[in-house]
Amino acid sequence: MPTKHFLQLKDFSRADFEYLFERTRWIKDRFKRYEIYQPLRDRTLAMVFEKASTRTRVSFEAGINQLGGIAINLNRGDTQLSRGEPIEDVARVISRMVDGVMIRTFEQVIIERFAANSRVPVINGLTNEYHPCQILADVYTYIEHRGSMEGKTVAWIGDSNNVCSTWLQAASIFGFNVHVSTPPGYEVDPNRAGVGELNHMRSFPDPVDACRGADLVTTDVWTSMGFETESAERRRNFEHWRVDRAMMAAAKPDAVFMHCLPVHRGEEVEAEVIDGPQSVVGDEAENRLHVQKALLEYLVCGPISQ
Ligand code: CP
Repeated sequence: MPTKHFLQLKDFSRADFEYLFERTRWIKDRFKRYEIYQPLRDRTLAMVFEKASTRTRVSFEAGINQLGGIAINLNRGDTQLSRGEPIEDVARVISRMVDGVMIRTFEQVIIERFAANSRVPVINGLTNEYHPCQILADVYTYIEHRGSMEGKTVAWIGDSNNVCSTWLQAASIFGFNVHVSTPPGYEVDPNRAGVGELNHMRSFPDPVDACRGADLVTTDVWTSMGFETESAERRRNFEHWRVDRAMMAAAKPDAVFMHCLPVHRGEEVEAEVIDGPQSVVGDEAENRLHVQKALLEYLVCGPISQ
């Protein structure tokens, strides 16, 4: 059997996700009852961070520990990668010693080269192009709060970044629509998003129009990691793409608000929205832990019937 990796959302089928969500519910319920569940005893996860992280770092490290395994954290500068060691050599060596690898890095091609030379599963913990673990948690969180996403509408306001691209991949897998509103010059590139056809996407020049009738409104920072030199220009260009109460009022009355965090209150979203009653960002962040535990169990142990 070839080693299964999770490099972008479309690497998995809808059946894979349905299985993962079922396992997530089971694992989360046990966690909430303080019951020990350790299918990954004596297993090791290497975590390579070439960019900063709070949620991804803590959720993967806590997750593998709770499953009975241990994490080895390798920050930028800790490894010979920072001194030019080829990614292929690092992959061949690390994957002889551990049971899984989670990588947060820059271009998607880096993680693809790593995976092509890895004997063990590789998980994308964020690249410039995609953030599949985040959208795994987001879709699970929506289902927990409101049920199936089939036929629903997600309004994406702001930059067409890695999180937006991953929402677009999710739309074709789960059968929902994405209304996208970006400033001119920051539109979705279907190739970069990894979606051949944009059948599940509609573009709106006005962000309020994108939110009309939406079931879920979401956004992200105006300047993603790696694009810091563009910050001042982006602050000017994104000024009208701040999620505010008018946008939430245009959405359905039971719409939820999501943000992958970290947030800049007053930039991409008003404090009254992210800290308001429609916001589910706390559950969204916590669910990173639970979905990733199910993902680790699946990639390392294969399907489990319990
Ligand atoms: N949402 C997310 O990935 O958070 P971190 O950058 O803190 O890991």
